[in-house]
Amino acid sequence: MSQTLPLAGIKIIDFTHVQAGPACTQLLAWFGADVIKVERPGSGDVTRNQLRDIPDADALYFTMLNSNKRSLTLDTKTPAGKEVLERMIKESDVMVENFGPGALDRMGFSWARIQELNPGMIMASVKGFSEGHHYEDLKVYENVAQCAGGAASTTGFWDGPPTVSAAALGDTNTGMHLAIGILTALMGRQKTGKGQKVAVAMQDAVLNLCRVKLRDQQRLDKLGVLKEYPQYPHGTFTDVVPRGGNAGGGGQPGWVLKCKGWETDPNAYIYFTVQDHAWPPIAHAIGKDEWANDPAYNTPDARQDKIFDIFATIEDWLKDKTKFEAVDILRKFDIPCAPVMSMKEIANDPSLRASGSIVEVEHKGRGEKYLTVGSPIKFSDLKPEITASPLLGEHTDEVLASLGYSKEEIAALHTSKAV
Ligand code: COA
Repeated sequence: MSQTLPLAGIKIIDFTHVQAGPACTQLLAWFGADVIKVERPGSGDVTRNQLRDIPDADALYFTMLNSNKRSLTLDTKTPAGKEVLERMIKESDVMVENFGPGALDRMGFSWARIQELNPGMIMASVKGFSEGHHYEDLKVYENVAQCAGGAASTTGFWDGPPTVSAAALGDTNTGMHLAIGILTALMGRQKTGKGQKVAVAMQDAVLNLCRVKLRDQQRLDKLGVLKEYPQYPHGTFTDVVPRGGNAGGGGQPGWVLKCKGWETDPNAYIYFTVQDHAWPPIAHAIGKDEWANDPAYNTPDARQDKIFDIFATIEDWLKDKTKFEAVDILRKFDIPCAPVMSMKEIANDPSLRASGSIVEVEHKGRGEKYLTVGSPIKFSDLKPEITASPLLGEHTDEVLASLGYSKEEIAALHTSKAV
């Protein structure tokens, strides 16, 4: 399919590493931006080497976060490397970075200097904590952010420790927030002609996803209990939002329920939701017709103190059904539910393949296709084509040539190890 990609013509200096920054720039690359990943000569992004599954080939951690990009090696601490970066800044639209606090300033590329070089530049940063925060000097990884942003204290079971999520709430989530910020700044620049600095702190991005827990803290302060949590009415509350296990976060109770085979299959479960207004279909679906209009069951308040007995009854109904069979029955009754999907099932899911949410990509360095995520955002007139992540420095010479360096100058940059 030949298509005009919406971000075609936008030049991005991708000074990112690990996950939070690369997830942002990968998204923009999918939609057509020319993303040039700037990496340290010899080693590159640390994730190229982390948890390799094929000796001497880029690790999946790298390939799954850097598709559709070009790679330029550049030592930006050498004078020649700095000069290359200056040329790039002068002719790019966006620079994205997620170095440790102060690294860019130490390199000589403060926001003031970047503006001097290119007043239209959008300078986008991920840091662990926001500017001026009492922890602003801290380096931060995913789980640190999940703890700082309120996710860990509210995730897990009440009789266990704070728990982090496998979902990258700190990394990729922050990158997605940053992408929104960059696109907003690009639209702003169309009106003003001026660039600006865009920053997202990982703590803030986690908190933005934990807002219902902040809601619950305020309700707890006022009411002393949270009726939708498993602790009510038989357990106790303190003055902080407790961990609610698998309870639904909104106004409708839900839980993870065992299905046929749970004794040996760790994922033989479904998530089941009891919507307030949909009680009769639930009663009919699980063969408890007599519950449909029984005042002891047919309002949320009536069900509240026996919700776990109700879940136990549903589990009894589920014991001879696989998770997929159960969902096929429950969907006919309009009950919000889903099988607990293992990563193996996700990898092979025909619908995710058909929609492009999971794709296979050829990679010359690995010598075989690798599986990765495609765009979760679907458009009527755009189907992003996912291409392989670049090899380290694969595009160094072509990028230097496009910046006006002659063959001899490029050779000299290689000899001096600036690239
Ligand atoms: N040429 C020369 N030097 C380079 C370079 C290049 N191409 N790329 C990076 N460097 C240098 C940096 O300038 C920095 O130098 P300095 O600290 O001596 O001034 C150095 O490499 C290390 O950078 P740093 O980002 O601090 O790496 P780290 O491995 O120690 O820390 C993180 C990694 C992720 C903890 C840290 O980058 C961080 O806190 N980032 C912000 C939050 C974030 O995005 N975290 C999530 C990552 S998924």
